[in-house]
Amino acid sequence: MTATPPDFDAAFFRSALGRFATGVTIITTEACDGQRPIGLTISSFNSVSLDPPMVLWSLSKAASSLRHFQQTERYVIHVLSATQLHLAKQFAYGPQAARFNGVALTRAPGGTPMLDDPECAAWFECRNIVQHEAGDHLIFVGQVERCERSFSQPLVYHAGDFDLTPSTEPMSND
Ligand SMILES: Cc1cc2nc3c(=O)[nH]c(=O)nc-3n(C[C@H](O)[C@H](O)[C@H](O)COP(=O)(O)O)c2cc1C
Repeated sequence: MTATPPDFDAAFFRSALGRFATGVTIITTEACDGQRPIGLTISSFNSVSLDPPMVLWSLSKAASSLRHFQQTERYVIHVLSATQLHLAKQFAYGPQAARFNGVALTRAPGGTPMLDDPECAAWFECRNIVQHEAGDHLIFVGQVERCERSFSQPLVYHAGDFDLTPSTEPMSND
């Protein structure tokens, strides 16, 4: 089946997509050479399957970290809380070599380098089971082996910017 050519330009498409509010994550893994951590800010994270537990995210083919994520066995997805805005910016706009400056690291149970930060709203250690090419991105599906969560307020991204409007509602713990 052939798709009808778009009647909108890239800027309009981006603006329309921006109406969808998302959370913000940082995804970390070990570099191909096993010598250093790799990480970047990602908002394309979503849930896929409860049984077995699976999630997805997509990575630009232009990303410098692409080859590391293509080859890695596992990665950790950290869901950021509103107090971690500085990390979201550091891992999106800073050079890869400087992203972990001043950032405490530990290892997830499966050995993946991850942020050692109790402020994270949740984290998921995933096995890198599926990579699917889609236009200028690769979709990664991860099988979740371990996860943790807290009840901090999430960091929200909307209309091309971080949404810092504080919620007046208390967080539920279910
Ligand atoms: C809030 C936010 C969400 C982002 N989400 C994605 C995403 O889902 N996929 C992607 O490829 N890049 C995304 N980016 C851009 C990357 O974080 C950015 O291009 C980063 O520098 C790529 O790192 P790398 O080139 O070292 O791999 C996002 C940036 C921000 C600020």
